[in-house]
Amino acid sequence: MDPISNPFSPGAGSPPPELVGRDNILEQTNILFARILKKRPEKSFFLTGLRGVGKTVLLNEIERLAEKADYRTIFIEAHEDKSLVALLAPHLRKLLFDLDRLAGAGHKARRSLAVLKSFISSFKLKFDDVEFGLDIEPERGSADSGDIEVDLSNLFLSVAEAAQERETAVSILIDESQYLDHVELSALIMAMHKMQQRQLPLVLIGAGLPILPALMGDSKSYAERLFQFPDIGPLSEPDAARALQDPVKAAGVEFSADALQEIFRLTQGYPYFLQEWGYQSWNRASKSPITLQTVQGATPIVVQRLDANFFRVRFDRLTTSEKNYLRAMAQQGPGPYRSGDVASALSVKVTSLGTVRATLIKKGMIYSPTHGDLAFTVPLFDEFMRRAIPDFTSRA
Ligand SMILES: Nc1ncnc2c1ncn2[C@@H]1O[C@H](COP(=O)(O)OP(=O)(O)OP(=O)(O)O)[C@@H](O)[C@H]1O
Ligand SMILES: [Mg+2]
Repeated sequence: MDPISNPFSPGAGSPPPELVGRDNILEQTNILFARILKKRPEKSFFLTGLRGVGKTVLLNEIERLAEKADYRTIFIEAHEDKSLVALLAPHLRKLLFDLDRLAGAGHKARRSLAVLKSFISSFKLKFDDVEFGLDIEPERGSADSGDIEVDLSNLFLSVAEAAQERETAVSILIDESQYLDHVELSALIMAMHKMQQRQLPLVLIGAGLPILPALMGDSKSYAERLFQFPDIGPLSEPDAARALQDPVKAAGVEFSADALQEIFRLTQGYPYFLQEWGYQSWNRASKSPITLQTVQGATPIVVQRLDANFFRVRFDRLTTSEKNYLRAMAQQGPGPYRSGDVASALSVKVTSLGTVRATLIKKGMIYSPTHGDLAFTVPLFDEFMRRAIPDFTSRA
């Protein structure tokens, strides 16, 4: 069928034709936004889920809801090599300038800019002073201790007060939150604790890999009182069917029931894979309905594309010993896995694998779903590893 009108959208962060199966989260988000504006307590949240499950597109949708609810929104993506402070500061500066320009009495936005300026200088970020306006002097003694756990709270307080003075609210959205370091996460938790105590209109919504709650470490039990960690999982079979069927129906085309079943069997309902299978099946079909046979014909192309892109970008970032470790995991099926079994498969002692396991966790390749267990953060990665390195026995 015409590839130009193909409705599917495989790709990181590409909005799907239908955002299926996420109504609960979206409703919860609307409730959060509305309650915070009414000064009622409500937990902010971190969406957690595997690679390609739809966290980024959900966060983008949440950004739209925030704007509809008249929130001022900051959307950042955490990064292994960039500090939270460096990511946030330019957005906060813009937001505060916008608030300052809105009509209304009071000078809290200006004050917050002064706090931001001292915050920035204490973290030695380089911003052109002129961009702040010559008349804004850093407010000494506010948010400039150099200790982010203290300073971020003070900065958020001043920002939220400025928003409140202008009768608006602020939402800060952070994708890839697992790349924040321990201190940054703990600073965010403390800052959000302050927001809650003072009933100030600032919410934080993050998204990240399932390792996130564990990264909060010591601050975890505290975090659980302030945040929820909704699990963003694969779609159920009926939802997966809708994600495929509704977009093609809009174009006057249909999937046959057995075609849908086959795609569900292969994808296990993981959104990224649904988009890929939908996309290739559409292109291969010559007429409606799209049949089981078409899907079967598309499967090798989909697998090849996934191997060359979705899986490969992750594989290429690994060292040889990391690849061996993952291959030994994959040898045992879909998981979860025990470290001891991985070590025996490699004929070495568990203790000798501590470092490689730690770097794999840091790179976001594996995580520990429950104590002592390991799992891949990329769905169906075990199958990919067996394809990428077919011959395991020779290396054990
Ligand atoms: N609810 C959904 N229904 C159908 N398709 C979806 C849904 N959510 C996401 N997708 C599709 O899945 C793919 C992956 O989405 P997205 O990039 O948001 O995942 P992610 O969880 O952010 O992945 P990563 O951890 O790699 O960043 C996209 O092609 C998107 O269109
Ligand atoms: Mg993403």
